[in-house]
Amino acid sequence: MNEQGLRSTIIKTCLAMNASGLNQGMAGNVSVRFGDGLLITPSAMPYDQMKPEDIVLLHMGGTAQGLHTPSSEWRFHRDILAARPDINAVVHTHATYATMLALLAKPIPAVHYMVTVAGGKDIRCCPYATFGSQELSDYVLEALDERFACLMAHHGMIACGASLDKALWLAREVETLAHQYWGALQIGTPKTLTDTQMDQVLKKMKTCKYGRES
Ligand code: 13P
Repeated sequence: MNEQGLRSTIIKTCLAMNASGLNQGMAGNVSVRFGDGLLITPSAMPYDQMKPEDIVLLHMGGTAQGLHTPSSEWRFHRDILAARPDINAVVHTHATYATMLALLAKPIPAVHYMVTVAGGKDIRCCPYATFGSQELSDYVLEALDERFACLMAHHGMIACGASLDKALWLAREVETLAHQYWGALQIGTPKTLTDTQMDQVLKKMKTCKYGRES
């Protein structure tokens, strides 16, 4: 996709993120790999007012080019894309159920086999650090090791993918799992699947279309 197409797709992703209840107001941010750098949402701009020219081009060194200041979270967007050649798009939201678990610094354990869509046997929750800080980015990178999504304590969630569509799809899956886990916690203590059961699912997910973005 060319630069203009990517800029428009970022905005579509942001609008879909808010319309589907995955995010609210000006919270959250979205980026996509572009050339040697990335295209990222500007800081604190309402998504329904965003135009393709408002998206900021960021070089891997941290220099921004555009009409606005890049998202305050440009560090983790940049660091994820720099560290993970398998990831081209990053979506950060303050989705309600994922954030409720994050308020308790709770990861999502292997309570449902669909946890594996984030790449492993749980969805980690990284420790709290101030938004926009390098410390937060370092924590995020650790929580994303061999994973495509994580929760962020007292903050929200991050979902990544090979494309913006895949990252948004995963954000929806993580929020659904967080909702289901939260609900189960209201009525009891959900049991976790065993390591062997999760290994079997991880293996099966590699060979079947189900469980991946359709
Ligand atoms: P930005 O508007 O600067 O992207 O910040 C929103 C946010 O969610 C910070 O974590």
